[in-house]
Amino acid sequence: MTALPVIAIDGPAASGKGTLARRVAAAMGFAHLDTGTLYRVVGLAVLKAGKDPGDAGAATAAVKALDLSLLEDHALRSAETGVAASQVGANPAVREALLEFQRNFAAHPPGGQGAVLDGRDIGTIICPTATVKLFVTATPQVRARRRYLELFSHGSSRTEAEVLADICSRDHRDMSRPVAPLAQAPDAHLLDTTQLDIEAAVALALEIVRAALRT
Ligand code: CDP
Repeated sequence: MTALPVIAIDGPAASGKGTLARRVAAAMGFAHLDTGTLYRVVGLAVLKAGKDPGDAGAATAAVKALDLSLLEDHALRSAETGVAASQVGANPAVREALLEFQRNFAAHPPGGQGAVLDGRDIGTIICPTATVKLFVTATPQVRARRRYLELFSHGSSRTEAEVLADICSRDHRDMSRPVAPLAQAPDAHLLDTTQLDIEAAVALALEIVRAALRT
């Protein structure tokens, strides 16, 4: 049996990788997994338990009792949950516990056509043999502007300067952690969206994906 195509999309916070992954998956008829959501669920569970997301025991307990009802929680996409997700994501036991689910999704995607996974370590650790790898990025200032507008539209009162500070500290934590740090895989295509709107970024990503699937 030939393996189904897997598209790995990695990049830092608010780079546009989530929207890109959703749109590429829809255009190709592939299933999509936003792996950041898994880390957000674990981070939010720790916050709701009144514990510190940096506490290894609390994070490990939360991933063992993975509470998927939190997928519907309005706080899942908040800035605080993003920070907590990044803290629990630095915990090797949390990453190990989520590994199999992600690999299984890539190998057996719903719909049976192919999979798009987006995150931080998809092309490097989760699916190192992915058919196509994209590394999506943009300057911290442009990413902060996008995230600020997104949070503002959801009623957040966080200032743009605060959002930029969050993004910079999250980038630093994600790139410097010893386990599965955020990094561009050597065989990933770099997609810098600083000057691109979402339509242009999607068009470019689809060009790369279709060319790779033809070869
Ligand atoms: O949407 P945004 O880029 O802000 O964040 P996200 O993709 O929802 O991920 C939240 C946090 O989860 C990140 O800052 C990472 O620390 C962590 N994460 C990870 O460690 N590995 C992944 N594959 C996905 C997310």
